[in-house]
Amino acid sequence: MPDTRIADAHALLTDSKTKTSGGSLAIVGTGMQAFSHLTREAEGHIRHADVVFHCIRDPLTLADLHALNPNVIDLTALYGADKRRSLTYVQMAEAMVAEVRAGRRVTGVFYGHPGFYVAPARLALTTAKGEGYDTRLLPGVSSLDYLFADLRIDPSQSGYQALEATDFLLRNRPLVTSGHVVLMQVGPVGDLFRPVTDNLERRAILFERLIEIYGEDHWCVDYVGATRPGQKPVLRRLPLKAYRDPANLKRLSKASTLYIPPKDSLENDMGMAERLGIGALVGKPAVAPAPDATPVTLLPSTPPAVSQAYYTAMKTIALDPAAAQAFRDDPVRYVTGFGPLSEDERRWTAAMASAPVKVVVAAVEDVQDQNVSTEDVQDQNVSTEDVQDQNVSVEDVQDQNVSTEDVQDQNVSTEDVQDQNVSVEDVQDQNVSVEDVQDQNVSAE
Ligand SMILES: C[S@@+](CC[C@H](N)C(=O)[O-])C[C@H]1O[C@@H](n2cnc3c(N)ncnc32)[C@H](O)[C@@H]1O
Repeated sequence: MPDTRIADAHALLTDSKTKTSGGSLAIVGTGMQAFSHLTREAEGHIRHADVVFHCIRDPLTLADLHALNPNVIDLTALYGADKRRSLTYVQMAEAMVAEVRAGRRVTGVFYGHPGFYVAPARLALTTAKGEGYDTRLLPGVSSLDYLFADLRIDPSQSGYQALEATDFLLRNRPLVTSGHVVLMQVGPVGDLFRPVTDNLERRAILFERLIEIYGEDHWCVDYVGATRPGQKPVLRRLPLKAYRDPANLKRLSKASTLYIPPKDSLENDMGMAERLGIGALVGKPAVAPAPDATPVTLLPSTPPAVSQAYYTAMKTIALDPAAAQAFRDDPVRYVTGFGPLSEDERRWTAAMASAPVKVVVAAVEDVQDQNVSTEDVQDQNVSTEDVQDQNVSVEDVQDQNVSTEDVQDQNVSTEDVQDQNVSVEDVQDQNVSVEDVQDQNVSAE
């Protein structure tokens, strides 16, 4: 059985087969909330496509799509009663790739992040790339991103696992109970067909397994993010045992994502802290500056020294895929067409011009090795020097992130996490019914 992950990696990395003309495929996401989450980049790919395919049910998102491009085809028509969803996904992918083969610039639109639990998008990308067409997968705001925001969870504390509910049960995947756990597709757990039904027996099996792992009093949140501006999310916080009641099982929706907070907290490994040279700091609060230390004065930010030409060129590339292609073909020529550049900007642009060669070399070696090592990944991208030239220095990157110390300073215990989240009252305040949210999206896993 070939490893499809390797095939995917091959497809993503191999540039040598890319056709120089003809069709292309961009897969974009709308994010979770109509209007608000669509990235400028995704909007550009929708606006400039010859044909747009979508798998969107939310009417507002759909209206937005039609406003951006009149040539829109609805893939949801391929769902059929009592039809395996996996078959539908192959058909959806084929429909998109057929247009790519006909030489058209195709954009496939899915809700959320289009590479996150979206089988037809992945199939279409792998097929089109395998046949030598230019393909892109653009990131979007996923339900996981949305959950982190609405539940105010920062996975830097405790880490997290995100699992598909059926896959979790089928493979008996171990849960890391010291971290945040997110289960996707809990409503349709065990369901391989369309339309998805409310199968309470299967949902009950899921919760019994969770109770075995966490105990019946551990709480969880049934989370459904708002898909319309102004709408509130559904956040139903209940102990796991509450799901022994069929009424609660029934309230789970196709759009429900289940959040389970950490149960155990782990102690610092002081031996490791010593080896890392931070033994004296770990577990201790940062020392406050002496009272007589000179206070830092915060000043209004100074606009960066970016030339108008470089600013306009970069923004145009971000919004228009044809401009991005022209840039990739000849970065120096493209950017200098916008006007005079600073010396740094000329250097950054020249560095872009030399980057793709490295991608091809790394890709061929990766495929031969059938394994992508950390070094390969570094090679695939522009070199460290290029990155330093273009943007922030390595030190900046280090500074920008929180240090172990910062994390410890935040002093967030498991209990805090529980407190920080939503209460049952929050849920009662909400004016959106589960049914409303269910109808809006949710297709194509
Ligand atoms: C097929 S996956 C699609 C995921 C999507 N591509 C994303 O970026 O989140 C469907 C699952 O996404 C999650 N989901 C969909 N809509 C959601 C919403 N409004 N709020 C929370 N989770 C949602 C649920 O776990 C649902 O079963």
